[in-house]
Amino acid sequence: MIKIFFLPHKTILPKGKIVYHRSKDSILNIALKNGININHACEKVCACTTCHCIIKKGFNSLNKINELESDMLDKAWNLNFKSRLSCQAIISDKDLIIKIPKYNINYVN
Ligand code: FES
Repeated sequence: MIKIFFLPHKTILPKGKIVYHRSKDSILNIALKNGININHACEKVCACTTCHCIIKKGFNSLNKINELESDMLDKAWNLNFKSRLSCQAIISDKDLIIKIPKYNINYVN
């Protein structure tokens, strides 16, 4: 069982949340299944940056970033060297700590 800690976010997740997941899936799918409403304007096809997350722990355990994701990430607000598009980031066998950025290109809060 993989433990994923989504850090608090002012509007999406004020108290933060720990979730557990067994099988390979994207961080976005896991978040949505657990009631964490990360924006996903392009419906998970790697054509926006609204699902941008920063992987505070476990970054290297995720699948590799491909060229399309890399190109899209360049447009993300507050890009970090541990940034991923959560719809493209597939978990493996390591626990994760995820930060949902304060802003994305769809809204400001
Ligand atoms: S939902 Fe658009 S890139 Fe992830």
